Amino acid sequence: MAEDLRQALRAFIAGVMPGRENALVFGEGPKHAKLMLIGEAPGEQETLQGRPFVGKAGQNLDHFLALAGLSREEIYISNAVKLRPTKTGKTGRLSNRPPTKDEIALFRPWLMREIEEVAPGMIATLGNVPLRAVTGRSLSIGEVHGQVLDAGETGLPLFALYHPASLIYNRSLTDVYEQDVRALAQRLKTL
Ligand code: URA
Repeated sequence: MAEDLRQALRAFIAGVMPGRENALVFGEGPKHAKLMLIGEAPGEQETLQGRPFVGKAGQNLDHFLALAGLSREEIYISNAVKLRPTKTGKTGRLSNRPPTKDEIALFRPWLMREIEEVAPGMIATLGNVPLRAVTGRSLSIGEVHGQVLDAGETGLPLFALYHPASLIYNRSLTDVYEQDVRALAQRLKTL
């Protein structure tokens, strides 16, 4: 994310959630990247390091990008929600939770500005949250994964992928995810 957009988002979050602006995890990567990957929200590692997809889901992502012959450096990576959604357990430990509708809606205009700024050749969403945030439609990843959709108001093609974290919990999705990533790589060659 360019510095002026980062600053504007920081100021906005400082206004609505004072103090939380320091925990924002911005998107990173080259402008006009062929591919812009959009995940759900940062986790603990991402928040500590201030970078998207550096935790366990990021390792899975790197593995599949390598399979598709894509490198992280040539891709722009971001999230639909740019603050880690947490819940507090009985022992007082923080853990991740899915972002709420309100959190997704709060960040949506910023995501749209980010997409406009990056102007990628294609968007790939990871899981339901960014799929719905970008298209504005209540689609289901189980039904549209591996397909190229119209990314709503962005006017860009959108390729729907499962979220890499879902592979941690459901190993049987690995083959499907791998096929989808290869299909995405083929598609990118035509851009
Ligand atoms: N890390 C991220 O940055 N985003 C996700 O969606 C998951 C892990």
